[in-house]
Amino acid sequence: MDYTAIQDYLEQLVPPRPPELAAMERYAAEHDFPIIGPVAGQLCYQTARLIGAQRVYELGSGYGYSTAWFARAVQEAGGGEVHHVVWDEALSAMAQRHLAALGYGDIVRYHVGEAVAALRATDGPFDVIFMDIDKQGYPDALEVIDARLRPGGVLIVDNVLWSGKIADDNANDATTAAIRRMNDTLARDKRYVTTIAPVRDGVLVAQKK
Ligand SMILES: C[S@@+](CC[C@H](N)C(=O)[O-])C[C@H]1O[C@@H](n2cnc3c(N)ncnc32)[C@H](O)[C@@H]1O
Repeated sequence: MDYTAIQDYLEQLVPPRPPELAAMERYAAEHDFPIIGPVAGQLCYQTARLIGAQRVYELGSGYGYSTAWFARAVQEAGGGEVHHVVWDEALSAMAQRHLAALGYGDIVRYHVGEAVAALRATDGPFDVIFMDIDKQGYPDALEVIDARLRPGGVLIVDNVLWSGKIADDNANDATTAAIRRMNDTLARDKRYVTTIAPVRDGVLVAQKK
């Protein structure tokens, strides 16, 4: 089975995006910027929508592509807030332009700084927390995420298959080991219902009971 062909198949099933979001996808392709892409975006949007999410916190937001998918769900749920967090001023400014153009200006709150520290400094509870920071930071972020996620809320984490290295016994670099540790922790934690969807680079969805 050809994994790329399957991902291409899934992608063409995602409904057409607004021109601004499509432009953000083109920018990522042209500049090799790692966005979640449309299939994982649709999964994030659907998950947030399923629980009527009105408070979403993103760790590692880039120029706002994943933010846009969450903001759409929150807007459809009647409004609320999506926290955009990145440590790069220029990316935050870019995100502000894109998300205003998409009509989410009144929903998104912007923080420039280290994402886990920013979450620690923000009051919960959140309906959805999405993590896409530097992967070695994944395991240590779980404690504050758990403290800020409401019961019934959902944690979504990107890149949990790490280009397949996660299943390669010979891959023992620090980043792969960190992702493996987080996946194992959540899969074994009886307080969460956890599934990894093999969408693009792997999306973990964990609902807190
Ligand atoms: C993979 S990209 C995010 C893409 C975004 N989630 C999307 O799909 O549109 C991760 C971004 O978060 C930033 N980042 C990584 N670790 C971070 C951290 N601990 N705190 C704040 N920003 C971080 C990176 O510099 C990069 O801009």
